[in-house]
Amino acid sequence: MAEERGLTTQSRRLQRRGAVAGFLPGRSRKAVGLVRNIALPLAPLVVALTLSACVADAPAVDASDSVLVEGRQLYINNCIGCHGSDGGGGTGSKLNDGTVVANYPDIADQIRLVAEGKNQMPAFAGKLSEAELEAVSRYTREGL
Ligand code: HEC
Repeated sequence: MAEERGLTTQSRRLQRRGAVAGFLPGRSRKAVGLVRNIALPLAPLVVALTLSACVADAPAVDASDSVLVEGRQLYINNCIGCHGSDGGGGTGSKLNDGTVVANYPDIADQIRLVAEGKNQMPAFAGKLSEAELEAVSRYTREGL
């Protein structure tokens, strides 16, 4: 029953569209066809591209350094919301421009902070492995 009603509504809508297109001059009808055949099928692609551009805009690293590449992805997945896409800070403190290297000359101290957390900074020991903690810390030191 509900399905029947749905079909009726849809065919009425199609009829109406057809009627409108019938009244349109040739060029507008072509424009409607272009939108339907080209723009609409492309829409999901445009949305996907926009989303990926928003998500993955942390500074790039040398693609041959797999640890830094992984660290960048970990940063995007876990840290960007508080520390900003370029590490400039936000809810979390500024990490870029050599800040973390200055504050933690020994990377082990920085890794410990990320593992254990501090005040509003969550602990990542249960979430990231030792190798991942090191990779993301290297990225904040060398990639931001
Ligand atoms: C919920 C927000 C939040 C998230 C997510 C977060 N941080 Fe933080 N982070 C903070 C805050 C707030 C501080 C400042 C802590 C303080 O000193 O009181 C901080 C501090 C730090 C510091 C020390 C900076 C300094 O100069 O003392 C480092 C390093 C750091 N975060 C790295 C990371 C990394 C790496 C990640 C992701 C794995 C991450 N943070 C995720 C909020 C966050």
